[in-house]
Amino acid sequence: MHLDIRPCSALRGEVKVPGDKSISHRALIFGAIAQGVTRIDHINPGGDVSSTVTCLMKLGVDIRFDGRFMFVGGKDFFDLQAPTEVLDAKNSGTTMRLLAGLLAAQDFSSTISGDDSLRRRPMRRIIEPLQQMGAHIDSTDGCPPLHIHGRELNGIEYEMPISSAQVKSCLLLAGLGAWGTTTIIEKEQSRDHTERMLRAMGAPISRVGNKISIRPGKLHDIDIKVPGDISAAAFFIAAALLVPDSDIFLPHAGVNPTRTGFIEVVREMGAHLKITGEKAVCGEPVANIRAQSCELQATEISGVRIPLLIDEIPIIAVLATQARGTTIIRDAAELRVKESDRVKLIASNLRNMGATVEEFPDGLSITGPTKLRGAEIDTAGDHRLAMAFTIAGLVAIGTTRILQPGSVTISDPNFYDALSTLGVNGVV
Ligand code: S3P
Repeated sequence: MHLDIRPCSALRGEVKVPGDKSISHRALIFGAIAQGVTRIDHINPGGDVSSTVTCLMKLGVDIRFDGRFMFVGGKDFFDLQAPTEVLDAKNSGTTMRLLAGLLAAQDFSSTISGDDSLRRRPMRRIIEPLQQMGAHIDSTDGCPPLHIHGRELNGIEYEMPISSAQVKSCLLLAGLGAWGTTTIIEKEQSRDHTERMLRAMGAPISRVGNKISIRPGKLHDIDIKVPGDISAAAFFIAAALLVPDSDIFLPHAGVNPTRTGFIEVVREMGAHLKITGEKAVCGEPVANIRAQSCELQATEISGVRIPLLIDEIPIIAVLATQARGTTIIRDAAELRVKESDRVKLIASNLRNMGATVEEFPDGLSITGPTKLRGAEIDTAGDHRLAMAFTIAGLVAIGTTRILQPGSVTISDPNFYDALSTLGVNGVV
């Protein structure tokens, strides 16, 4: 299956991006162990979040959707049921890593696995600290499936060697069911949706500097309105910046400062974004974003900025091909262990489109501006590559053929429909 993208001009209109994927996973998982019924509005409709729903239902959690709201009937942390079959996280690293924290503290055994992509992803980053807490987990050379033999856990103090909100959230969940205090030290700040939501649900969680501590405690239900996903918005913002005469409005997008590295970077590159109406909704900042076409300059991104835009690097790389000068991205080796080896595939696909790209073990350099030409794009079934190279195709000469475009349903099932309402012809 493939999709052919042709160049276009003047994308105009409003896009309502789907609910934030990271926040949606957390609302479901924390709702599952809260007292009462958690009501979630604007939940992300993609495949990854459905994987979390299915896994939680196999653990005995009552989840219903009425066409608008998702209702999660909470159970006590230790009242989850032993699953009778393997929990299938499919493509979702967040589902697997967060649920592993919850499962490690239960008094039953469970197995969690996933698709070919997820079964190649590193899990030692959660297995090792969970083992330090007393967990017993078998894996295949540190990769899924994970066989989790639930145990009583003890709180630890753990300094994360990499910056990862998934690891942090896994350990905070385990800490909710462990004896004593669990303290996580993060050297670089990663997205903090877990801390915000657990606090809003009454968990005994605190942060001092870069140390986050949690003690066992009960959560209470809340009504959550999920902000629009800034990671989904990034593709439309990039389309507006690149396609001549474009003007796109994105209402109600999440602008949590631990997620807005992309906004900072495109502003540095010369984008005139208008961000208006900022307010807090359920403890998360949201705002309206307007993006218009403009000239771009190269930039450099590394260090503490990387976790704040890790999922946006594929689309930043596409923007860099149209920017004047050499954009350098370093300290991003984590990109090689996402849904695909994104460093390798960004480099090879951009080169096939005629871009000047150098690949480093931990990043890329891209020199522009280059007039891209259409090519066949190997997305390896990775949703963010399919979306990034679709946007590249809108400004390339000729036809860009996206292989496995169906992966966009992982995070934004409406992606191609939304592009066509903005004026992109013939993609649906
Ligand atoms: C996520 C955290 C990030 C991100 C992923 C979602 C989350 O991964 O890349 O798409 O929801 O916590 P890491 O925590 O592994 O960096």
